[in-house]
Amino acid sequence: TLLFSADFNLWNKSTLNQVVKKGKLRVCLEPGYVPFEMRDKHGRIIGFDVDIAKKMAKDMGVKLKLVPTAWDGIIPALITNKCDIIISGMTITQKRNLKVAFSEPYFLVGQTLLVNKKHSNISNYKDLDKKGIVITTKLGTTGEIAARKLFKNATIKTFDSESAAVQEVLNNRADAFIYDKPYNELFMAGKGKGKLIFLKQDLTYEPLGFAVNHGDPDFLNWLNNFLRQIKHDGTYEKFYNKWFRN
Ligand code: ARG
Repeated sequence: TLLFSADFNLWNKSTLNQVVKKGKLRVCLEPGYVPFEMRDKHGRIIGFDVDIAKKMAKDMGVKLKLVPTAWDGIIPALITNKCDIIISGMTITQKRNLKVAFSEPYFLVGQTLLVNKKHSNISNYKDLDKKGIVITTKLGTTGEIAARKLFKNATIKTFDSESAAVQEVLNNRADAFIYDKPYNELFMAGKGKGKLIFLKQDLTYEPLGFAVNHGDPDFLNWLNNFLRQIKHDGTYEKFYNKWFRN
C-alpha cells in the first residue's frame, strides 16, 4: 500500500540508516567550549560531548568521526551533509529549530557573567548596562543573543572564541564576559581564580540538544531513546562526574 511504501522510504532515507550502512557516525563540534569539547595537550578533542558521541557510536555499532567545525558554520555544515549530527553544547533556540531538528535536552545551562574586579560594588547585571561599559562574548552564540537583549546601553564586543572574549576582561580591556554557566564556573576555578567576580545567577533558560536535519523522525526517535537510557543507567552520571566534578 501507499502508506507502507511511504514509511519504508522514510527509514531508507533516514540519516540513521545511512550511518549504520556506512559504519560511521560523523559528529560536528567546535572545540573550545570547556568542558563539553576542547583540545588536550596533544591536540586531541576531548570532553563531555565527546564521551556521549563515543557511546552513541558504540551503541550504533559504528565508528566515530569527529568533524571540528567553526561555530558560525556549524548549522550549514549539518545541512550540507558534512556531518550527521551536531553535538556541541548547542542551545535549543526557536530560531535554530527552524533550520534543524533537536533531540530532547541533554543538559541545562543559563547565561552568567564574569566581571572585572574593579566592579566589586556591583551585584546585578543591570548595574553594568551603562555607556562606556564593554561586554564581551562569543560571536553567534546565545551569549551574544543575551548580551544584545540585556545590555542596551553598554558596548558589546564579539570574538571568534570564548577564550579570546574572556581574556579581554582579564586584560582590563573589557568590563564583563557573558557566557554559559558551566564554562564560566570552570574558568573561575582556574585562570579566573581571585581575578574576576562571578555573577552566577542564571540570566537565561537554555536547554542543550543534539541537532539533526529536519524530516528524520527515526533518527530523533533513536536519539531520544538513547538519551533516556544513558540518563538512567549510570552512563550519563559517570560522564557528568568525570567532567563537572572535581
Ligand atoms: N550554548 C551556546 C550556544 O548554543 C554556546 C555553545 C558553544 N559551543 C561550542 N562548542 N563552542 O550558542
